[in-house]
Amino acid sequence: MSNMPRRHFLTGAATALVGGRLIQNAAGSPVLPMAELTAKAPLIVSTWPFGKPSNEKALEVLQAKGSGLDAVEAGIRVTESDAGNPSVGLAGIPNAEGVVQLDACIMSGPGHRAGSVGALSGFRHPISVARAVMEKTKHVMLVADGAAAFAALHGFETGPKVSPGQHAAWKKWKEQQKRAEKNHDTIALILQTASGDIFGGCSTSGWGYKLPGRLGDSPIVGGGLYVDNEVGAAGATGLGENVMRYCGTFLVVEFMRQGLHPQDACLETIRRIARLDPKGFDLSINFIAIDRNGRFGGAGTGTGFEYSVTCPAFSRVVQSPGVTTADIGPVGGNRK
Ligand code: GLY
Repeated sequence: MSNMPRRHFLTGAATALVGGRLIQNAAGSPVLPMAELTAKAPLIVSTWPFGKPSNEKALEVLQAKGSGLDAVEAGIRVTESDAGNPSVGLAGIPNAEGVVQLDACIMSGPGHRAGSVGALSGFRHPISVARAVMEKTKHVMLVADGAAAFAALHGFETGPKVSPGQHAAWKKWKEQQKRAEKNHDTIALILQTASGDIFGGCSTSGWGYKLPGRLGDSPIVGGGLYVDNEVGAAGATGLGENVMRYCGTFLVVEFMRQGLHPQDACLETIRRIARLDPKGFDLSINFIAIDRNGRFGGAGTGTGFEYSVTCPAFSRVVQSPGVTTADIGPVGGNRK
């Protein structure tokens, strides 16, 4: 479906009132009024515009009577397969040694099950390996060589440990001895099936030129992803170090449990983190969330970010509100 009608947009202005609070928008970008942030399940929400094809694949799977986990996995595999995406899958930016190390996590609301892999090299679909960890082992997380051995044992598809293009870029970076560059546009995908159950997954190649062995928030349950079948789900993208220190997605879900709308829960999580963090709002973190009532939302630091929303009635990219100091005053642990 095409864009929302103009009447749904608050355009041009730098600020808007959302949930009774002052929100700063990306300059000139539309933010949907909160009353519009609802859809009839099946509902799929993912981070960034590149999540939209993943959402649409997930919807296709659900409409073909696939399970919620099948939908999450198939959706995320679309982004992991994108040779043009530098932050998810084996086309991603490598670590400081020139090797792509992938992180992924998957959760099932029913049974409250989770599986994850971290620092996995040479396998095309970490989301599928994470699912196998959940379904075929007694564990939740496998990392590095152990994760690779497990993936090999179960016959998962292999691939080059770095793409030719990223290898060339890495060589240049190495010669110039730049500091690690930040690139962390993770896909997190959360959904509610028509029967009301909630599932989620996330996948990333993490911070570009990171130290070998670095894990971000994406494989951490409650960091980059959290699903609670009684309440809803949340996913994160951005600088994982600033999410995992605060159990970011767990916090979003707990705010929803207290009754906050998913968008307010994302906003309040960012405010909470910024109040404590020495960096204040200079955190580069973004959240998406859905609740059991079919409501969804997102929020990011600065000017916010774009996320993708898909249901049988529409599939579109939505601008989130951003959060700055404007509405909460002192941040960074300065609050008395
Ligand atoms: N959010 C992904 C990462 O920091 O690795």
